[in-house]
Amino acid sequence: MNLTIDGVPVSVPEGTLLVEAAKTIKQQIPIYCYHTKLGPAGLCRICMVDIEGMPKLQIACNTVATEGMVVRTQGERVEAARAVVLELFLVNHPLDCPICDKGGECDLQDYAVAYARGTSDVADPKLRKPKAVELGPTIVLDEERCIVCQRCVRFDDIIADERQLVVKDRGAHDIIATATGAPYRHNFTGNVTELCPVGALTSKTYRFKSRPWDLTRTETTCTQCAVGCRQVADVRYGKLLRTMLVEEDPISDGWLCDRGRYNVGFYESPDRIVQPLYRKDGSFVQIGWDDAFILWAKAIRDAIDERGPASVGAIGGGRLTNEEAFALQHLFRAAGVTNLDWRAGRQRQATPGAHGAPIERIESAQAIVTIGESPQERAPVLWLRVRKAARRGAQIVTAANAKEARAAIGGATSVALIWDGVDLDEGRAYVEAFSDVSEVLTYVASEQGNARGAEAMGMLPFAGPGGAGLDGEAMFDAARAGDLAVLSLFGVNPARNARDPKAATRAIDRVPFLVVSELFMTESAQGAALVLPALGAFEKHGTTLGLGGELLPVNASLAAPESARSDFEMLCGLADQLGIALPDAREIERSVVDLVAKAATDFTFGDARFATRGSAIATNGAASAAILSGGGTWRHDPLLAGMRG
Ligand code: SF4
Ligand code: SF4
Ligand code: FES
Repeated sequence: MNLTIDGVPVSVPEGTLLVEAAKTIKQQIPIYCYHTKLGPAGLCRICMVDIEGMPKLQIACNTVATEGMVVRTQGERVEAARAVVLELFLVNHPLDCPICDKGGECDLQDYAVAYARGTSDVADPKLRKPKAVELGPTIVLDEERCIVCQRCVRFDDIIADERQLVVKDRGAHDIIATATGAPYRHNFTGNVTELCPVGALTSKTYRFKSRPWDLTRTETTCTQCAVGCRQVADVRYGKLLRTMLVEEDPISDGWLCDRGRYNVGFYESPDRIVQPLYRKDGSFVQIGWDDAFILWAKAIRDAIDERGPASVGAIGGGRLTNEEAFALQHLFRAAGVTNLDWRAGRQRQATPGAHGAPIERIESAQAIVTIGESPQERAPVLWLRVRKAARRGAQIVTAANAKEARAAIGGATSVALIWDGVDLDEGRAYVEAFSDVSEVLTYVASEQGNARGAEAMGMLPFAGPGGAGLDGEAMFDAARAGDLAVLSLFGVNPARNARDPKAATRAIDRVPFLVVSELFMTESAQGAALVLPALGAFEKHGTTLGLGGELLPVNASLAAPESARSDFEMLCGLADQLGIALPDAREIERSVVDLVAKAATDFTFGDARFATRGSAIATNGAASAAILSGGGTWRHDPLLAGMRG
């Protein structure tokens, strides 16, 4: 389709809306109700443009480009129309810019500066509507700022598929509310604050905290679950105030879930461990890092010398970056230890194997089969893809077993399997049942953030040189039998999250020298001999592996607390004391890239090599996901205190 926009020849595919066609020449047409992912609504009329041959101005958001069209997005007529539209919007809009959280990133403010007349002929007082209305646990609504563009309502309907928000009342009195009056609450509520073109919807966690020009922005990867959404961390004077979505992110599709968006206040928690703690005569005393490394290394060396390397083990990886997980297994293997695992919960496998695919491929599947625990809770943004596929007609199947699922999908030739990685036999049975389907894509929604990275980096008992050691469960058995002298836990809390927390607690209590690297004094840390204060993902650099196999950069946006260290730094300190040389940073980076590529094809869905004692633990689809990363950071997040429950 060839047309001219502002005198510039433009070529676009058939069906392209003028508002999108203008973007190809970097001409931005003002919009309020239109959004690329929500489509046109034709409610606000700010996007009017002049089209040659048409007597009246047309809305660019709902006018399709046609051959030979000549469009003017600027000019006297257009600008006069925009000024009128803005005048109508501002008739009842409060003069809130000086205190509004959206000030500096508000479309109404920006377009008013660009197009409005600056004066008004309206002499009547403005209509007053309530301010700071609590819409739900996360969102506050300033009703008088709302311009009723309905983006929030349409997000809830089209993207989140929740249909909680509606427009109530009529004309100048219309307001946004939930249809039932119940609090607005689901996994994706925070997105409406970014979609709202004005300051009507704000997050409780950010309200009155900052202005955009005071923020330092860092693009990074969310580590709260296995998906790996891109996000922007906004920091003011050393405090992480909010995280924002990245629109062009192929993984998140431009959305964040509430867990990823709001669970950021734990960095400020007074409960954070600030100093290495050593248990002396039954109670913890603060010690320096050098002493911590000496004690840790001595315990490992003594155990190896006296009882052999099988008396030492390490569990962790899902909270760590790839580089840290690599260094962890490398160091322990170099010391002769092969009791290594990231699994301290019920999940057995995180790598989907050869049928793994980027997350967006879910959208084109004809049928989506979910196996085990709810992916909605474990990997929320993944679920938005499933909903998107369903809107396009994909069949969503939750069946009692593989045979039933195979029958349910009928003649579908492309199937996406989303598994919780818990029951290996079940995983294998599904892949076998679908062996006649021409395209089977597999995804594992993990219970730990970077579980897939931990596996790729070799944090598994069988995944490295030195022969197979014990897996997590077998290490607990060995501990209960008094056969484990030193156990190091990195960001895992088996005393709370193991498949049998009581048995795991009994096990780790019997370990003479338990080391726990954590942000908080978790149930497991309370029984440790040595507790090491760790860093969270916003405080360190590295990479993680996304659910679809993408290598993702994690960038620090916060200065690390003075006395805490990254797991990588801890491992370097331990390596020094053990007299083991870790590879240099560049070598580790290279190894990470190689191992990521290898892991993508090395494992199969329901791989027998992951099998251990009691691997077939059925979850019956129960939604009991526990994100282990960060040691249960939700519990230590003062920002979230009002949102829980
Ligand atoms: S609250 Fe915001 S997004 Fe929702 S209708 Fe009002 S202005 Fe639009
Ligand atoms: S889906 Fe996962 S990675 Fe994405 S924002 Fe939510 S918690 Fe973070
Ligand atoms: S953006 Fe076109 S009518 Fe609202």
